[in-house]
Amino acid sequence: MNEIPGETTQEQTFYEQVGGEETFRRLVHRFYEGVAADPLLRPMYPEEDLGPAEERLALFLMQYWGGPRTYSDHRGHPRLRMRHAPFTVDQEAHDAWLRHMRAALDDLALAPEHEAELWRYLTYAAASMVNTAG
Ligand code: HEM
Repeated sequence: MNEIPGETTQEQTFYEQVGGEETFRRLVHRFYEGVAADPLLRPMYPEEDLGPAEERLALFLMQYWGGPRTYSDHRGHPRLRMRHAPFTVDQEAHDAWLRHMRAALDDLALAPEHEAELWRYLTYAAASMVNTAG
């Protein structure tokens, strides 16, 4: 055995570094407050109650960043592009989605390097979700 007493070889996940479940729930809750008031995005959500959609996005992001795998336990493989196919995700929807995410992320006041990493992912993921020209 090569273990060095008193040192740990385990690295924290990004999920843990930013504060775990509470952080992701705050982010997504704030994001959905924006969606609820958005005239373009709100009608896209099939359910009257945005609560279940909020839960799905929070669980997905928690899993993506190294937290519990509850999302996939409930929903299976994410296949996010496929799951967005029924919705018209054009440039305008993309911009609105990111605008609410940006406001929610600002509210979290994370360390700059964490904020930058999360934002890089969110902008990349949002661009990859666009399925309609115009
Ligand atoms: C680019 C603009 C986007 C729009 C307009 C959009 C819109 C929607 C809509 C209308 C739903 C259905 C609501 C529901 O029943 O859950 C949904 C679901 C979802 N979206 Fe998006 N979305 C966008 C980008 C993203 C991005 C970038 C991510 C991930 C980082 C994401 C993750 C999810 C997840 C996890 C679900 C639930 C999937 C499921 O398990 O059914 N979305 N989105």
